[in-house]
Amino acid sequence: MLMQDKIQEARDAIASAEKLLVFTGAGISKESGVPTFREAGGLWEKFKAEDFATLEAFKRRPKEVWEWYRFRRNLARKAEPNPAHYAVAKLETLHDDFMVATQNIDNLHQRAGAKKVLELHGNIMRSYCLKCGHKVDESEHKLEGEVPTCPKGDCGGVMRPDVVWFGEFLDPKVLEQSFKFAAECDCCIVIGTSGVVYPAAQIPVLARRNDACIIEINPEPSALTRIADYFLKGKAGEIMPMLVEENPG
Ligand code: OAD
Repeated sequence: MLMQDKIQEARDAIASAEKLLVFTGAGISKESGVPTFREAGGLWEKFKAEDFATLEAFKRRPKEVWEWYRFRRNLARKAEPNPAHYAVAKLETLHDDFMVATQNIDNLHQRAGAKKVLELHGNIMRSYCLKCGHKVDESEHKLEGEVPTCPKGDCGGVMRPDVVWFGEFLDPKVLEQSFKFAAECDCCIVIGTSGVVYPAAQIPVLARRNDACIIEINPEPSALTRIADYFLKGKAGEIMPMLVEENPG
């Protein structure tokens, strides 16, 4: 099928969806300048996950791990949402029954205006205390120190980024809500993910099991392409606006 026809059919499927889910990964933020993980030049090529993204690594070298997260947080802060994030936010205004489930921690969906966002892997702008669990949103309150400590009362516990590390469980409430929405949706747009990290990658599979129409946007095939009804090969920032604009072209 011609790309143009595929886009038209995907647009129709999205427009007629009663319950619409958008599942995103690092690729949607690449055009905003936020690096992905598994591509050439991606984060996992330069940094070993076991040195930066596990609780053991944090306990061993909290200063270095914090330094790495501050570096990534600054990248995310400086980045601007791109046309794909805005197109997703626009879809939310067009569909009453809508949800974004994102693996990203960069806050760009929210900054583009999306409100119904399930953060599967946390949010790099937030931190929480290892001792008492107190959460701090650093877009509101800046934590001081190379390894910041809990500002609540006289707790003084060590703060850590509010992100999911390897070997950790996802927030059960967030996961349950995502799985439930996926199992009931009739259309799922999968954007910019390699689809290899579980349990997140189970989300479009559950949608597929409900016979939802699966639309994937990615410049390369992924582990999820086999379940896609429409694989739209290309960059999210270019394809997504075409799926949402009233009069494309
Ligand atoms: P990956 O780095 O594994 O995959 C990024 C995907 O984005 C690839 O399939 C690329 O082909 C695609 N891509 C690149 N440029 C794109 C563009 N302009 N538009 C659309 N797609 C593009 O990132 P994720 O799948 O998000 O987890 O990785 C999943 C999880 O693995 C992350 O959340 C993180 C990581 O370890 C944790 O840290 C827990």
